[in-house]
Amino acid sequence: MTYQNPPTTPRKSATFDDYTMSEIRRAAATGIYDIRGSGAKRKVPHFDDLLFLGASISRYALEGYRERCDTNVVLGTRFAKKPIELKIPITIAGMSFGSLSGPAKEALGRGASLSGTSTTTGDGGMTEEERGHSEKLVYQMLPSRYGMNPRDLRRADAIEVVVGQGAKPGGGGMLLGQKISDRVAEMRTLPKGIDQRSACRHPDWTGPDDLEIKILEIREITDWEKPIYVKIGGTRPYYDTALAVKAGADVVVLDGMQGGTAATQEVFIEHVGLPILACIRPAVQALQDLGMHRKVQLIVSGGIRNGADVAKALALGADAVAVGTAALIALGDNDPHWESEYQKLGTTAGAYDDWHEGKDPAGITTQDAELMKRVDPVAAGRRLANYLKVMTLEAQTVARACGKNHLHNLEPEDLCALTVEAAAMSGVPLAGTKWIPGQTQF
Ligand SMILES: Cc1cc2nc3c(=O)[nH]c(=O)nc-3n(C[C@H](O)[C@H](O)[C@H](O)COP(=O)(O)O)c2cc1C
Repeated sequence: MTYQNPPTTPRKSATFDDYTMSEIRRAAATGIYDIRGSGAKRKVPHFDDLLFLGASISRYALEGYRERCDTNVVLGTRFAKKPIELKIPITIAGMSFGSLSGPAKEALGRGASLSGTSTTTGDGGMTEEERGHSEKLVYQMLPSRYGMNPRDLRRADAIEVVVGQGAKPGGGGMLLGQKISDRVAEMRTLPKGIDQRSACRHPDWTGPDDLEIKILEIREITDWEKPIYVKIGGTRPYYDTALAVKAGADVVVLDGMQGGTAATQEVFIEHVGLPILACIRPAVQALQDLGMHRKVQLIVSGGIRNGADVAKALALGADAVAVGTAALIALGDNDPHWESEYQKLGTTAGAYDDWHEGKDPAGITTQDAELMKRVDPVAAGRRLANYLKVMTLEAQTVARACGKNHLHNLEPEDLCALTVEAAAMSGVPLAGTKWIPGQTQF
């Protein structure tokens, strides 16, 4: 009998996987790097790596249907004469008009107002849709200064000085020509149809001392009424939070690497910045070291999806969270309803991320007059409000199970981590142990 080699199973490389190889081929064919929207797609340590412990004999639970668990939050209590009061600790993150359509902006405003929370402008200025429909509107001041004017500073309920974003810390914005319609061009004082890159640094400051001067300027323009937030991308959260506080911020907004963007280089989205899980405890530590925890409020964002994420962020010491991508999904982004059209664009619902191209079948990340008609701002706003309500109810459910009568009473002690990495990053013990890597012994 002759010996026959057994058939072998072809083996693909874990390093050179299908996606990596297709990217190499795409780069080789075009000589152009990939730009896309959305946030990091690879798996990094996240809130799923934490669990709540819940009450038992040593802790006393609250009764879900009879005992209160409050959810309100006040932002800007440090210096502002008119702090912002929200009914829920979930805000809508800054997303630029230009990246989003007018009807999408209106829907965000409607949904946030129905829920008693705030929405935020973005690069490119304040639209009437958004101001008109947002009970509480935070106005961003970005390095680009596109659409920026002192009149709108005064029409806002708070000002957010953007230093960076989690998806691209150290990088500026991008809006490709396809999305620079007449209206976007006018608001940004830019030529129509030409690719635009916005600055990564504020033109008039070179360091934290200049940030302090800038914040003072804004306070004077707004008569010390409006809370001033400083938004940073998660890279060196301890020092950046401390410097923002020193510069006079009322609120620090900290955005992790999973955070969405309208458009940037893929290499940025996947390879720069820290997961939000790794940012919260150092930021809280900085606030505590300065005696400012709960006096300067901390809003965190980057991949917040449900009430469990909200409750975990708050338990780690944040005062509120912000949602971007999830809010767009609630409005209808990447909805399977448009599957046949996603396929025509060479993608599928749930994977569509070419938001910079302006061809969004759902009418959200586009300036195309026909496509944007697909967003019904009233219905989409209602969906967003429903989603925010469910997240709040979920967070309350968890908090009551931990015996807490306010979401802000959640604490690290209510949590454990499923992995050594998550335990080290979030400063809570590994499940079933008292071990916090780097802090305690077994
Ligand atoms: C379509 C889109 C546009 C955005 N535009 C801005 C912007 O103009 N300014 C800004 O500071 N952040 C911007 N961001 C980032 C968000 O403010 C926020 O940091 C991020 O979306 C939070 O993460 P999440 O998307 O996982 O919720 C944008 C995000 C998206 C998805």
